[in-house]
Amino acid sequence: MEDPVQRHPTRGEQLDILATLIADTVDRGQAVLEFGCGVGYVAHLILEKRPDLDIVGVDRKGDALQQAQDTLPAGRFTAIEGDLEAIGDIAIPDKAYGAIFTALTFHDLPDPAKQAVIAAAAARLAPGGCFLLYDRLRLDAPSLFPLQQSIWSRIERVHGRGMRTADSFNAYVEDLGTDNRPARLADYLDWFPAAGLTPQVLHLHGNVALIGGAKG
Ligand SMILES: C[S@@+](CC[C@H](N)C(=O)[O-])C[C@H]1O[C@@H](n2cnc3c(N)ncnc32)[C@H](O)[C@@H]1O
Repeated sequence: MEDPVQRHPTRGEQLDILATLIADTVDRGQAVLEFGCGVGYVAHLILEKRPDLDIVGVDRKGDALQQAQDTLPAGRFTAIEGDLEAIGDIAIPDKAYGAIFTALTFHDLPDPAKQAVIAAAAARLAPGGCFLLYDRLRLDAPSLFPLQQSIWSRIERVHGRGMRTADSFNAYVEDLGTDNRPARLADYLDWFPAAGLTPQVLHLHGNVALIGGAKG
């Protein structure tokens, strides 16, 4: 399956880490839940490593869910259509989830919805399970912005293509909007413990983070 999101040059490595963490830690018989699964590309990466796992994918786009269902191995993927901004209304199957994750979706959500999804994940995780969040972090210190620009330039040099960048901190802030509202690292470090999850930054490249939250 081809990666439908081509804009992040570091995504390949970071998704491999995410899929490896899930493949290595989810017990046999446990399920995996993804919030914002799109066409099921990350589910595909996980199933390549652990063909025995059952994955439930939630998304608001019916056509993307249909594509996921048509592409992923039969019987391994359950598609649930729903809006993460109303997480309480989504009929998530009751399973023992050893891992719950989300990839490049949280920046689409308003902050209260982000917190509600984190809380819903914590409530549904099996004991010892992990919530894994992969998304861009909001940059909020103008004085650090030149360092971020240097990292973006290096990514372009090393990978031959760039990612979402800005020429100045003000241009970066102007580009933030309703479909681009990443949270700050400091927010996640508040919201995870508030939901009963112990947070750890597991991988960071530029401003794209993989954060884990352990239950218990
Ligand atoms: C950039 S795509 C990432 C898809 C997949 N996680 C991946 O990494 O390949 C973001 C996905 O989140 C979904 N999404 C965004 N906001 C949503 C919401 N409020 N409720 C449900 N899904 C949402 C979009 O429909 C889209 O499929």
